[in-house]
Amino acid sequence: MKLRKTIPLFFVAGLVGWSLSACSSAEPTTLKDAYSGKFLIGAAINKNIVSGNDDASMEILKREFNSITAENCMKSAWLQPEKGVFHFDDADRFVQFGEENGMAIIGHCLIWHSQAPKWFFTDEKGQDVSRDELIQRMQDHITTVVSRYKGRIKGWDVVNEAIMDDGSWRDTKFYRIIGEDFVKLAFLFAREADPDCELYYNDYSMMHEGKRNGVVEMIKNLQAQGVKVDGIGMQGHYGLDFPDFAEFEKSLVAFADLGCGVHITELDFTVLPSPDSQVGADVAAGFEYQQALNPYSEELPEEVAAQLYSQYADLFAVLLKHAGCVERVTLWGISDADSWRNDWPVRGRTDYPLLFDREYQAKPVVKKLIKLALN
Ligand code: XIL
Repeated sequence: MKLRKTIPLFFVAGLVGWSLSACSSAEPTTLKDAYSGKFLIGAAINKNIVSGNDDASMEILKREFNSITAENCMKSAWLQPEKGVFHFDDADRFVQFGEENGMAIIGHCLIWHSQAPKWFFTDEKGQDVSRDELIQRMQDHITTVVSRYKGRIKGWDVVNEAIMDDGSWRDTKFYRIIGEDFVKLAFLFAREADPDCELYYNDYSMMHEGKRNGVVEMIKNLQAQGVKVDGIGMQGHYGLDFPDFAEFEKSLVAFADLGCGVHITELDFTVLPSPDSQVGADVAAGFEYQQALNPYSEELPEEVAAQLYSQYADLFAVLLKHAGCVERVTLWGISDADSWRNDWPVRGRTDYPLLFDREYQAKPVVKKLIKLALN
């Protein structure tokens, strides 16, 4: 009582005013808020989340992220498993989910040699189709899919993984049957179907000098032919000892110099030993399980976790330095529980590549990334 009487009124008023203003200018505590005005923070999501069967991931998604990419349901094998027979249910729900939650929706991916149905490239006798026929099939697929979501999708990965690490063209059915023009045609068909949508080229291992040069050359050729490429996706399936961030930065700058927005489209860092020296993200790669390749099946040692966190922090430091040209950073999944890295390139391992752990808790590095953005 006595104490209260002796506290001057102006002091109490000042205190109330200070705490009110502290509340209203509180620093952001989520990734999407911290990076707002810099770049979008996205996540690849799967059917479970969209259909409401994974509340824990859903909660993180809504709290921390403002963009979604279809992890699988928009690939051609899902959308058009038989010629002319389209399955849109999952993709429709994905797009509707994004709209209901005000998220930037990314379509992944229109033309990719992997996870494409066999029929796409072959006739009824099992022979390769003609060039004209493959172009027609590409056009039918792209036009049908892109038109369906016209005006609702922020951007499409139009072509995925056309260039090898040394800069040469990847020897796929699209390349073999159509030639280099398959990329140009894919962009033209997509542009025709939705003129206002952003169109991206997406690939992995983009920090390699050979791939950087090959992609730059390909985009320059497209631009010289009047084809607009809005963005370049650097997938970003990394590990504890790669990428070399100086090389990564060179690629980022080279892509931005083309006038393309830079998107980190599929970010994760495996903490597990690689069974192969060729570290990329070729989904066709597969190695037999060995116990030695799965060293952290019980828990992740602290020193390894620390390396993971420093990889994330180093990468985000580069991205923040170039925030003017980086448009989006998308994690390839939400929690470690659901990451594709548990099964690729070796099935049945326990990996820790993402920002949220198996208990759906934010890893300590999330706070660090938020701090980095606010500095
Ligand atoms: C992966 C999905 O995450 C897995 O669920 C699926 O089994 C295989 O494909 N590059 C890409 C992505 O462009 O589409 C791949 O996604 C990962 C590598």
